[in-house]
Amino acid sequence: MDNAATTPMSPKVIDVITNEMTTDFGNASSTYEIGRTARHAIDQARTKIANVINAEDNEIVFTSGGSESNNTAIFGVAHSRRSIGKRIITTKIEHPSVLEPMKQLEREGYEVIYLDVDQNGRISLADLKANLTPETILVSIMAVNNEIGTINPLEAIGEVVAGSNAYFHVDAVQGLGNIELDVQKMQIDFLSSSAHKINGPKFLGFLYENKKAKLPPLILGGEQETKRRAGTENVPAIAGFGEAVSEIAAVDKMQLQSKYHHFQELILNELEQAKIKYEINGGFDEQFSHHVLNLRLNGISTIVLQTNLDLAGFAVSGGSACTAGSLEPSHVLKACFGAESPRVTESIRISFGRYTTEDEVKKFAKQLAKIASKLQ
Ligand SMILES: Cc1ncc(COP(=O)(O)O)c(C=O)c1O
Repeated sequence: MDNAATTPMSPKVIDVITNEMTTDFGNASSTYEIGRTARHAIDQARTKIANVINAEDNEIVFTSGGSESNNTAIFGVAHSRRSIGKRIITTKIEHPSVLEPMKQLEREGYEVIYLDVDQNGRISLADLKANLTPETILVSIMAVNNEIGTINPLEAIGEVVAGSNAYFHVDAVQGLGNIELDVQKMQIDFLSSSAHKINGPKFLGFLYENKKAKLPPLILGGEQETKRRAGTENVPAIAGFGEAVSEIAAVDKMQLQSKYHHFQELILNELEQAKIKYEINGGFDEQFSHHVLNLRLNGISTIVLQTNLDLAGFAVSGGSACTAGSLEPSHVLKACFGAESPRVTESIRISFGRYTTEDEVKKFAKQLAKIASKLQ
């Protein structure tokens, strides 16, 4: 029940990876045959990824994951465009791999505007427009929030940013696989994503870089990835990523969302029947990705509930995966409801994936209701 943290690998992805590992161990930069075979595997994966977001092959750069893609885009734009301006816009509820680079840029003398969000995690477009000055060089706004599932109106935001001097970066780590993404239609200049959230391998991601927007690399060294990311490519994992992307491309996102919505209802119905007092952080309309259900169970602290569920064999998160480990109160819930709100200390995040079954959700819902009745 924590698929927003990570997902199990697809059996076909495992097949592709193990096959690559056993048969093609060549270095993709080598010019002899096993090198060329490795290069071919990378090229094929790159094409599959480019197709799924409507980009060109040479606009896709492989990285070590969503965090590296975000760092590359943010530092790259900031450092290469500082002669134009030093102002950047983002939101208060981005992932730490966006917020921490922003804090570093502030230490370097950049001005970062953190847009407020409402209780549903939504920014105001008017607020964005009002903050977009000619000196603004970058707008970084996520596709789907990892804690409460808010889907940002990327097309509308892209339209606003396109009329300014700024580049538009989207952290789409929770978006890929759950919603449709189209970098042309949404006028996105940079888009980050990660393989392990879509049943692919860990420590692998990509950054889409619009060919018109040249970025300096974050990792310097060899000439891999046409000098945009040095380091010998992890060919088996990249081939597996290509397979994972092909699988999600074939999934109807509307159907997937309605399956997840049904799972959300199963859990809420169980809580209703057991007369549990709860509040939903986020919402249910089409502006939320239903793979996430963030709930406050009134009067039960996050850690107590999480531990009880863990003992019963169920994994849920107390925020994002990173904050869960350190028991920091969620910055997302604080931004939505205020630091003093009990929602900040009494909420859990439940999240579904492609392989989550109705049976699993029913068992989980029963256990959640049982634990909550005892604790409430
Ligand atoms: C919205 C978002 N951005 C970025 C990341 C980081 O991705 P990765 O784990 O591939 O570094 C995550 C992972 O939790 C995420 O949910």
